[in-house]
Amino acid sequence: MKVDPLELDINSLTRKCSMSRSEAISEIKILFGFANDLDQLELIKEPGVMRDPVKLKKYKRVFNDRITGKPVAYILGYKEFYGLPFEVNERVLIPRPDTELLVNLAIEKIQQYSLKTVLELGTGSGAIAASIATHLPNIKITATDVSSDALEVALANAITLGVNHLIDFKYSDWFSEISGKFDLIVSNPPYIAEDHACLQRDGAKYEPSIALTSGLSGLDALTLIVSQSRNFLNKDGWLLLEHGYDQRDSCRQLLSAGGFTSLFDESDLGGNPRVSGGRIEDES
Ligand SMILES: C[S@@+](CC[C@H](N)C(=O)[O-])C[C@H]1O[C@@H](n2cnc3c(N)ncnc32)[C@H](O)[C@@H]1O
Repeated sequence: MKVDPLELDINSLTRKCSMSRSEAISEIKILFGFANDLDQLELIKEPGVMRDPVKLKKYKRVFNDRITGKPVAYILGYKEFYGLPFEVNERVLIPRPDTELLVNLAIEKIQQYSLKTVLELGTGSGAIAASIATHLPNIKITATDVSSDALEVALANAITLGVNHLIDFKYSDWFSEISGKFDLIVSNPPYIAEDHACLQRDGAKYEPSIALTSGLSGLDALTLIVSQSRNFLNKDGWLLLEHGYDQRDSCRQLLSAGGFTSLFDESDLGGNPRVSGGRIEDES
C-alpha cells in the first residue's frame, strides 16, 4: 500500500513539534506554499497541486528544516507582529504575539499622558519600536541593542516600514551609551533562567541566547533595568516591562524598591501575567 507522504509529515510534526493535527496541516500548507511560491488561496482552489511530484520535492527540502525544529518564521524569513511584516533570521528573536500587549500598553500610556519621547531597550528585530512608530508618528523613539546583528535587522525593518526617520537606533549595553531623559522606557528584555527546561525545546536552539536568558534566576536584566531607569526618566515618566509568567511579584518588588509608583500589571491573552510597569513621580 502506498503511504501518503503528506500524511507521514503531518504525523511527524504532531509528534516531534507537539502540535495538534490541524496546526500541523496548516503549517504544512504554509511550507508547501513557501517552497513553491504559491499563496494559500491557490492551494485552497487547487489542492491537487500538493500531489505534484516536482512541487513535493521542493517542499520536502523546506520540511526537512522544519522537522529539525527550525521555527517556521526563520524558514519563511518573516513574522507578522502587530499587523506588520518583520524580516527575521537567526540573528534576532522571533517577536511573540504576547509582546503585542506591551505595545498596546505603551501606545495607551503615550496617548493618555501625551508622552513625547520613548527609549526601547533590547530592540531585536525592531518590532516594538517600529510598531509604536507606525501608529504614533509624532513620537521620538530611541531603540537600542547590544547586538550589532540585531540593530542591522531592526534598521532594515524600519526602512521597509517607512519609519526609520522616526527611530534612532543605537548600540548600547542597556544604558551604557544613553544620555538624556525620556517620558517612557519600554523593554522586553531576556528573562528566562539559564537552566530553564524550555531552552531544551527545538526552536530555542535557533534563537540567539542573548535574547532569551538572563542569569540563574532570569531576573538579571529586569533588575538592572529597573534599578537604572529612574536616572533616564523625566518626572512622571513611565517604565513598562515584559516578563515571565511567574515573575510578576518579583517585578513588583523591584519596581517598588526602585521608587516607582502607580504600579500595575497586565496579563496576556493566555491569562498569564506578562507586563508590569510604574511611574517615577520625582526626578532623581
Ligand atoms: C527578548 S529579546 C526582545 C527583542 C524584541 N524587543 C522583541 O520584543 O521581539 C531581548 C533583546 O535584548 C537584547 N539584549 C540582551 N542583552 C542586552 C544588553 N546588555 N543591552 C542591550 N540589549 C540587550 C538582545 O540582543 C535581544 O535583542
